[in-house]
Parts: sequence; structure tokens; C-alpha cells
Amino acid sequence: MILVTGANGMVGSYVREIFKGEDLYLTDLPELDITNKEQVFGMIKRVKPSLVIHLAAETDVDKCEQAVDHAYRTNTLGTQNVALACQRADCEMVYISTGAVFGGGPGEIHTEFSPTNPRNVYARSKLEGEKIVQDLLTRYYIFRAGWMIGGGRQKDIKFVGKIIQFCLEGRREIKAVSDKYGTPTFARDLVGGIKELIKTGNYGVYHLGNNGCCTRYDIAKKIIEILGLDIKLTSVSSAEFPLPAPRAESEGIRNYKLELLGLNVMRNWEAALAEYVNGWRQNA
Ligand SMILES: NC(=O)c1ccc[n+]([C@@H]2O[C@H](COP(=O)([O-])OP(=O)(O)OC[C@H]3O[C@@H](n4cnc5c(N)ncnc54)[C@H](OP(=O)(O)O)[C@@H]3O)[C@@H](O)[C@H]2O)c1
Repeated sequence: MILVTGANGMVGSYVREIFKGEDLYLTDLPELDITNKEQVFGMIKRVKPSLVIHLAAETDVDKCEQAVDHAYRTNTLGTQNVALACQRADCEMVYISTGAVFGGGPGEIHTEFSPTNPRNVYARSKLEGEKIVQDLLTRYYIFRAGWMIGGGRQKDIKFVGKIIQFCLEGRREIKAVSDKYGTPTFARDLVGGIKELIKTGNYGVYHLGNNGCCTRYDIAKKIIEILGLDIKLTSVSSAEFPLPAPRAESEGIRNYKLELLGLNVMRNWEAALAEYVNGWRQNA
């Protein structure tokens, strides 16, 4: 049995499809609140999973900056509750972390061996979650993902979803930031990668983004190209869109350990984005 936390989110929305045929127990708020230790322990004791895929998190980076206690309570102590319950039940755990634990210069791509340097509360709370998983468990996988793409029309409130909406509603001009770098990660590919890698028993910390590193401007350009539209795309600096949480110049990641092991199952970000955008269009 595989128990999933935060299963109603962007990443969770692909679990049923990718893990088809497996025994799944999908949970989210309010049934399972990871900040409630008794609930977490009770659920894991009752369900007896052999693996917990822990997706639940507060992923709104700007909200985390303004609600610091909430961020650490959810992303760090919530993860501690899940890890402690896994320790007690002797089950494996998957924790999804983020390329935002890095804070490199423009275009810099980080491997698992690069020093972490989180620049905002969200990233710090996720990094503390990583440390707790590593301290408490031996049978864990920590997968760091990049800028998430996924969820489709219902759930995608992130950058890619917004740009697709702008395009489809007939905007003539779109502005996108060109001075911040990251690694797009199609959530379906991430879940597919998780499914493959948990078979290996190669526990540890891995980067699991789509291959490559780019700016939001590059992503918007690609979306417009995929949709075959004639829209003016203007490159702007991040100073034009001031946000509560500071962002690193680069959160880019490379799946270096998986490359070294010959296990890098991820495709490049452009191919993943094209599949996502075409899927969105077909479901119109
Ligand atoms: N989104 C990204 O860009 C990104 C990038 C890298 C890594 N990640 C990581 O990937 C994982 C999955 O993220 P995602 O993109 O699927 O995020 P998401 O769409 O925000 O989903 C997270 C889910 O967790 C739920 N949740 C929040 N607080 C909870 C709590 N106390 N107890 C139980 N469930 C709770 C949320 O419910 P509500 O919606 O009701 O709050 C939501 O259904 C997270 O660990 C995240 O940190 C995300």
C-alpha cells in the first residue's frame, strides 16, 4: 500500500494515472492534516503503507514569506510528523523538495553536490524538511523538483497556466521575466520518475526536474510557439513584478546523480511543456 499526502494538489493529480494498478491510499486536507501528529500517526498505523509519498506542503511562496509560522509548521514540522510516523511504522518515505534550496547566479545549474543557499522562507522551510527526513530515516528518497508545470485547467494557477490562459483569451501582448532562471518540471514526468526510482532502492537525495534551465520568458516564448499564435512577448526584469518573497537569480537544477547512475528518466523541458500545452488545448 502506498499512502500519499497532499494528493489533491498539482503533483498529486497525476498519481492515480501513473500508479494505476497499485494499492493507493490518497489523502489531503481535511481528512489528513500533516500538522496534526496524532492524525498522521493514526492514519499510518491504520493504513500500514509500505511507502508514503509526502506531497502535502504550503507551496505559495509569497504566502510563506508573510506567514512564517504557518510555513514552518506545514513544510518542516508537518514533514517531521510524516517522517516520525514512517520511522515508527518502518516504511519508506518520498519527500519532494525544491530547486529553490539553491540560490545561484544567472543561468547557474545546481547538482546534488552544490551548496544550498535558500533565499526565502518557503525554500528554508523545505530545506529544513529535507534535514529532518535525513536525520530520522534511512529508507527515504528526497526528490528536488523545479518550477512545477501541471494540473491542467482545474488546478494550474501557476505561471504556465496563466500564460496559456492569456494566450487563449486573445491577449495581444504578454510580459515575462527574463532575469530569473529555473528548471521546469512537468508534474506527470516527476511522478513517472518517482515510480521508476523507488524501485531501485538507491535511497538518498536526487534532482528530478526536466532537463534544462531557462527563464519565464523562455517558457512563455515556447508556449506561444506551441500554440502557433502571433502575440508580442516582451522581456522584463523581475523588478517590474515586485513580490513579497525574494527569488534567487537561479534555482536551476541538473539531475546529475541520476545521470551518473544511468537512471535519468527525464526528458527535456521543451518536450514536456509541448505535451502539457497540447493536452490543455485538446481538452478545450
Ligand atoms: N509547485 C511547485 O512549483 C513545486 C516546485 C518544487 C517542489 N514542489 C513540492 O512538490 C510537492 C507537491 O507540490 P504541488 O505542486 O502538488 O503543491 P500543491 O498543488 O500546492 O499541493 C499541495 C497539497 O497539499 C495540501 N496541503 C497543504 N497543507 C496541508 C496540510 N497541513 N495537511 C495536508 N495537506 C496539506 C494542499 O491543500 P490546499 O490546496 O487545500 O492547501 C494541496 O492539496 C510539495 O512538497 C512542494 O513543496 C512544488
